[in-house]
Amino acid sequence: MAQLIVALDVPSAERAERLVDQLYELDVIVKVGLEGLFGYPERILAYCEARDVRVFIDAKLHDIPRTVAAAMVHLVRPNVRLVNVHALGGLDMMRAAVDAAGERAGELGVNPPHVLAVTLLTSIAPEDLNELGLQGGPGENAIRLAALARDAGCAGVVCSAQEVRDLKRFFGDHFLTLTPGIRPVGSAHADQKRVTTPAQAVAAGSDYLVVGRPVVDADDPVAAVQSILEEMSVRA
Ligand code: C5P
Repeated sequence: MAQLIVALDVPSAERAERLVDQLYELDVIVKVGLEGLFGYPERILAYCEARDVRVFIDAKLHDIPRTVAAAMVHLVRPNVRLVNVHALGGLDMMRAAVDAAGERAGELGVNPPHVLAVTLLTSIAPEDLNELGLQGGPGENAIRLAALARDAGCAGVVCSAQEVRDLKRFFGDHFLTLTPGIRPVGSAHADQKRVTTPAQAVAAGSDYLVVGRPVVDADDPVAAVQSILEEMSVRA
């Protein structure tokens, strides 16, 4: 069954902690991304760990293999279920990340987090690919990068829900897909280009749906999550 991940994209630890408290009963996974990782990393990660809230660390690691492996060691915690790297960092970098996550989890005696690889950011439009020197459309690029991620031992990929059907067809149902760029019916797209509704993402077979602004900017984040969970349970 698809699970909802709420991005704690807020400027302060206090606001992030308040969101964790508000969302606690709804049993969603929370995402700590660059804003939290640069702004208040230890505080929010310790807060979630103390409450046994499941976390996705959206670190999007992209560096030489040794540096990525060294960073990964600091991301493994008992309640951290998902972490990610950029597929464009290459096969060896992704392998180093997977190995480091597994080794560190072994040392701590906890389950290793799933290491996912970002294929293409959902803010990248088809016309941006050419500018980046990437041949083909978003779908072809996502498949190519996902194949590399699979070969490196990643558990799955971060991609647009628009690419999930093809990815599952190529790599099988157990290859996880985590999809940002989710917009409930009637909400603003902002900088996201390749968006889908919660119901469409679930129907496509996405395993994890990431939603940020439609929840954190809502007057009532709990009601916003409840309404997304409802949309997820309705077939598109
Ligand atoms: O506010 P919004 O729902 O657009 O937030 C989406 C979240 O998912 C952001 O935190 C963004 O960093 C993250 N993300 C993304 N596209 C990716 C990977 C992560 O939008 N490919």
